[in-house]
Amino acid sequence: MSEPRKLYIKSFGCQMNVYDAQRMTDQLAHEGYVETQTAEDADLVILNTCHIREKAAEKVYSELGRLRKSQDELGRRQMVAVAGCVAQAEGAEIIKRARSVDLVVGPQSYHKLPELIAQAELRGSNRRAGIVETEFPVEDKFDHLAAPSRAAIAKRGPTAFVTVQEGCDKFCTFCVVPYTRGAEVSRPVAKIVEEVRRLADGGVREVTLIGQNVNAYHGEDAAGRPVNLPGLIRAIVEVPGIARVRYTTSHPRDMDEELIAAHRDLPQLMPYLHLPVQSGSNRILAAMNRKHDRELFFETVERVRAARPDIAFSSDFIVGFPGETDEDFADTMDLVEKVRFAGAFSFKYSPRPGTPAATMAGQLPEEVKSQRIYALQALLDRQKAEFDAACRGRRFDILLEKHGKLPGQLIGRSPWLQSVVVLAPPEAIGTLATVEVREVSTKSMSGQILGGEFFDGRGEPAARFMGSIGQSEKVEA
Ligand code: 5AD
Ligand code: SF4
Repeated sequence: MSEPRKLYIKSFGCQMNVYDAQRMTDQLAHEGYVETQTAEDADLVILNTCHIREKAAEKVYSELGRLRKSQDELGRRQMVAVAGCVAQAEGAEIIKRARSVDLVVGPQSYHKLPELIAQAELRGSNRRAGIVETEFPVEDKFDHLAAPSRAAIAKRGPTAFVTVQEGCDKFCTFCVVPYTRGAEVSRPVAKIVEEVRRLADGGVREVTLIGQNVNAYHGEDAAGRPVNLPGLIRAIVEVPGIARVRYTTSHPRDMDEELIAAHRDLPQLMPYLHLPVQSGSNRILAAMNRKHDRELFFETVERVRAARPDIAFSSDFIVGFPGETDEDFADTMDLVEKVRFAGAFSFKYSPRPGTPAATMAGQLPEEVKSQRIYALQALLDRQKAEFDAACRGRRFDILLEKHGKLPGQLIGRSPWLQSVVVLAPPEAIGTLATVEVREVSTKSMSGQILGGEFFDGRGEPAARFMGSIGQSEKVEA
């Protein structure tokens, strides 16, 4: 038998890319590829790229430069593929700019990877010209991509992403997504549930449903009837073994009553909601074509909080959008003060080719963007620290995900995605336990498991672990 070929995938950008990288790995496993941890060691290198901001997009070129250098040093030439959103946006340009690239493949064509690799191999021996595949094919890639093996699922741990929706029809003026990922497409409920069932059988206890605009999900059930996101979530919480569900990323306009009611009615739906607002200024929100004002955001937050009092919010912000004045920025700071976030991502506006905002008047100098982001991040960091500090002494369930730094430690995740360090036996990974938080630091918190009981995600105690934990004295984070 021939040696298995080795695959190295490096992903940049959002969770969508993390998921896609796994699906590419699963697909190529069927072709005899095994994963390896370094590019140098690999026969095939895939860079799974992000185009959302200039900095993210440029990373692929520095990575390609590094790769070229190491190829020269080792005197070995691997096949190099560029996948993801830069591949979609720049296509053949990538091959012009980086001659080491054999293959450029957009996010909708991953199911064609084996045949594209075979074509690139053939061409490689004749003439060096890259292959570019950036069509939006009519067939659904998910129907053709191989499912992960049980071993692959187990290796990835008890949490998993599942893409349920791709693309975006909202056309915010700053954003490349409608161009790189195309129009909104939702996967059918039965396909998603089947995938979740398989993950649960492999030990997954928490799924995060992902999509660029996930709360606009509009799939179909087996009878062809429309199903929205709350309907999908209700189907998923029925899957045995699934103890927790999250979804990301959302648009404030699509937080409808039924979805809010799901937060009230479904204990499995975690009380942590990522709801990007981008700006607190109505003038800027209009220029961004966000299709809502700050008042709608406040109202939505209030309604969700009324339905699920322990919910916490995170958000995305852009500072320095064209034409943003000091007053507009003050409105953003004011919105943050009023809402109080438990986490957030904030970015300096980055003009993206082909988007309306890139050619708007009033582009701001870098120093202004830097000053504003500094002030905003300081405020958001303070709010996160306050939220975390308020958890001291609280009791809640954590999902034990992995080993901690020190022997005997495991790390679990709180409902609000905080890491909690506890003392617990390694077999408890993949179970849930109730903890009381003892210490909170900037990076993590530590706690003690109460009652010595672990749960298996079906509401049943995982009996084989009962009583087997050591009593923790002081847990070091
Ligand atoms: N510049 C800066 N940030 C951006 N985002 C999207 N496009 C841009 C851009 N051109 C941010 C938004 C979005 C997150 C994923 O990235 O905040 O919610
Ligand atoms: Fe980046 Fe957007 Fe593509 Fe995700 S979908 S990788 S954030 S450009």
